[in-house]
Amino acid sequence: MAILKIAKMGHPLLLQKAKEVDDPTSPQIKQLVNDMLDTLNDLGGSGVGLAAPQVHISLQVVIFEAVNEKKTSLITLINPKIKILTKETSIDWEGCLSVPGLRGKVSRPNKIKYTGFNLEGKKISTIAEGFDARVVQHECDHLFGILYPQRMEDLSSLQFVSEARHWSE
Ligand code: NI
Repeated sequence: MAILKIAKMGHPLLLQKAKEVDDPTSPQIKQLVNDMLDTLNDLGGSGVGLAAPQVHISLQVVIFEAVNEKKTSLITLINPKIKILTKETSIDWEGCLSVPGLRGKVSRPNKIKYTGFNLEGKKISTIAEGFDARVVQHECDHLFGILYPQRMEDLSSLQFVSEARHWSE
């Protein structure tokens, strides 16, 4: 078990495109995913996903929570690709472990298909909507050097969560 240090906005690695994984079944990738799971669990529910660049590893690996039939499970996705399935978008709050204490409103497509590989090297192909689609897009953005503030159309909603608590809508 290893708890990894989280890279914060300003670290150049968060602005880089991550490298594709050659072999999703390799022991090194399994170890990385296990450490990312430990790190996310250690943060105790403050994050719903984590991308490898956030733990200073520039590889195309993400983990995230997905809700399936009201059950939450953790998905590991390697070398992901996203296809947008609708022109419809919605705006909602996002936060990020690499941008601690802040949140902001981001517009994202409502429905996507994501593909990629799991740790067994099996191909994953899943349709995600709403909040799930948002989480996957946020995590995969990390693999292309994009943090959510770069997606914000209106920076006036960027705020400290501690402040927002007192002035909630
Ligand atoms: Ni993030």
